[in-house]
Amino acid sequence: MAESRPDLAGKRLVLGLSGGIACYKSAELLRLLVKAGASVRVVMTESAQRFITPVTMQALSGQPVTCDTWDAAEPNGMAHINLTREADAVLIAPASADLMARLAQGRADDLLSLLCLARPIDRCPLLLAPDMNCEMWAHPATQRNAAQLRADGCLLLGPDHGEQACGEFGDGRMLEPEALLEDLVAALSPKPLAGERVLITAGPTFEAIDPVRGLTNRSSGKMGFALARAAREAGAEVTLVAGPVHLPTPRGVRRIDVQSAEQMYAAVLPLAAAHRVFVATAAVADWRPAALADHKIKKSGEQPSALALTENPDILAAVAALPQPPYCVGFAAETQNLAAHAREKLRRKKLPLVVGNLGPATFGRDDNALLLVDAAGEQSLPAGGGRADKLTLARQLVAEIARRLATAAA
Ligand code: CTP
Repeated sequence: MAESRPDLAGKRLVLGLSGGIACYKSAELLRLLVKAGASVRVVMTESAQRFITPVTMQALSGQPVTCDTWDAAEPNGMAHINLTREADAVLIAPASADLMARLAQGRADDLLSLLCLARPIDRCPLLLAPDMNCEMWAHPATQRNAAQLRADGCLLLGPDHGEQACGEFGDGRMLEPEALLEDLVAALSPKPLAGERVLITAGPTFEAIDPVRGLTNRSSGKMGFALARAAREAGAEVTLVAGPVHLPTPRGVRRIDVQSAEQMYAAVLPLAAAHRVFVATAAVADWRPAALADHKIKKSGEQPSALALTENPDILAAVAALPQPPYCVGFAAETQNLAAHAREKLRRKKLPLVVGNLGPATFGRDDNALLLVDAAGEQSLPAGGGRADKLTLARQLVAEIARRLATAAA
């Protein structure tokens, strides 16, 4: 059984709803937060209750919903204090233009704005997911309030761009629940890579034979995409160079799509020196067809002649050979003798760290087991053996890379 721990296990959250049409999405957001392991107390403004009832949120959170500063059910009569003293974060989704204006002014005329003001600002972050018409969002007053809230330490998530409930089109939609969950998890994660730049390659490459055919492999890109997400959670600025895969881009990650090994090389090399870490998870084709046919090769009736191949450039070895290389992490997919092959790659490509995994069994799967090989020795992830899902492994690997960077700098 693969090891995995819900992303928000043990976290206590306050989910605030102010008046916006996206209140209907907040029910789904709440369901995702609870599924991710969080204990969630919901607070709703009077306007929010016009869009969705507290009963829905009570049923989904399994806890009472608080709407009133003067709620007599609170034993000490201080809901605004009780709700925030134990909370790890306050997330307001949707955050209306009016609520943002009131928060920017430090007003406390209803329970939601009151508890935001009363929260311990150093240990209980405030995250806002704006939701409003695009003209309201673009208005100088709202932009002024948003800037003030950021200056006060709030994290604004979104808004998104797209079609709005009113039929207009622009910035102002609340982010989708899955995106809010990903941003919240990132906001609550430790930041051992804060301020660092991380470059990652992922997926297979596709080496064209003619306009419709090519050579490729079964890499899904899942490990590289999980690493990009984990590095972003750890505070890094992440660039992901991806071969042809069917995966959504992790939130907050810059993605560059390529097809062939040569394109991947051309995308990576000019960027590499400006990065602190380079992780090569891509399953780069070692060879490409020596010539690309301009037109589809036709079945002529005869058996096709041999396909001539040329060797592709080694992206990882080229980055590691730069005058001032980033900290380079290679991946080794082997079918046997994992430690010996990984150590051979460490030496041959002059790398500080190689991560081995037994393939092709891992291709496309959601779980894996890794072996870290460096000058100090060998280390299994997950610690103690077994398997774990790729995001859990990616987070553990990012923590290990950060630990090695910190040791090297000390
Ligand atoms: N790599 C790369 N560019 C290439 C080939 C590989 O950047 N043209 C990187 C991969 O992303 C991975 C590591 O190098 O991090 C894999 O090393 P490699 O020696 O290519 O592995 P194998 O192809 O498995 O080697 P071998 O066939 O010798 O086992």
